[in-house]
Amino acid sequence: MKLPNQFYRPLAIGAPAPYRELPVKVERMIHFVPPHVEKMRAKVPDIAKQVDVVLGNLEDAIPADAKEAARAGFIEMAKSTDFGSTGLWTRMNALNSPWALDDMIDIVGAVGNKLDVVMLPKVEGPWDIAYLDQLLAQLEARNGVTKPILIHAILETAEGVKNVDAIAAASPRMHGISLGPADLAASRAMKTTRVGGGHPEYKVIADPQGDAPRATFQQDLWHYTIAKMVDACASAGIKAFYGPFGDFSDGPACEAQFRNAFLLGCAGAWSLHPTQIDIAKRVFSPDPDEVAFAKKVLEAMPDGTGAVMIDGKMQDDATWKQCKVVVDLAKQVAA
Ligand code: GLV
Ligand code: MG
Repeated sequence: MKLPNQFYRPLAIGAPAPYRELPVKVERMIHFVPPHVEKMRAKVPDIAKQVDVVLGNLEDAIPADAKEAARAGFIEMAKSTDFGSTGLWTRMNALNSPWALDDMIDIVGAVGNKLDVVMLPKVEGPWDIAYLDQLLAQLEARNGVTKPILIHAILETAEGVKNVDAIAAASPRMHGISLGPADLAASRAMKTTRVGGGHPEYKVIADPQGDAPRATFQQDLWHYTIAKMVDACASAGIKAFYGPFGDFSDGPACEAQFRNAFLLGCAGAWSLHPTQIDIAKRVFSPDPDEVAFAKKVLEAMPDGTGAVMIDGKMQDDATWKQCKVVVDLAKQVAA
């Protein structure tokens, strides 16, 4: 008997978990806006046309004396902008901060029906997600919110990394998880002073090859955590994201960091500066040559079973599934 590939789920690109309907949207960049700055708010209608997600940031990078202004600014921009199919998210303050409760009460009360996702920072375990889940349920009920607001966790403490599997599966509201390399570096006592990206001293020196100068290879500081996060997300049916890249002047390094994350299974990254929007768009959209090759494989194996040779390379059921991920993503991006 021939089994069709009905058992296949393209988890890494955000297929719904079996128990709920999560909209499968392209979210290549989560674009951060500081909502207390009027000049930045004024740009939002235009930015919303260029990005997949607009996020009003209330947490780190917003000064303590501007927290209320940021919250009010977010509500104003949410009310006054037509986001169309672009996602509207907020990054709330940490649950143990003085601002978190009012962030949710005020925002869900005022614009709960426009808000797609709440990004929760400093998540340490599933208990943080359970708390926010219940709080959102209360506020949705009180304010007549008609669609569930989803939760996106930032993985940025050593405790959170230890508990990432449980965090990913903590609630049907879970949308995804982003790596937060800056806070995570501090939490782990890593000896860096950067927001994401590499470090020139994190390297391997190749063995001597006769008299030739010895090659040095810089390593990816974030490989382990991204891979661990991707496995947790894929097994829970949610999406993984790389977070911020703080050196806005270094486009090539940002692109390389985003690409590593994409190749490992991430769906997108944060854009903190307009130049990073195009980088994310380029990196997190599949390569046309790769898509063309993947289509050839799918066409050569219509039911996804068996083995064929294409362009000198062996393809089988497993590569069929890899190709399906690439072709599905290309369809989503084109839609
Ligand atoms: C993001 O919040 C980070 O800490 O990198
Ligand atoms: Mg952080």
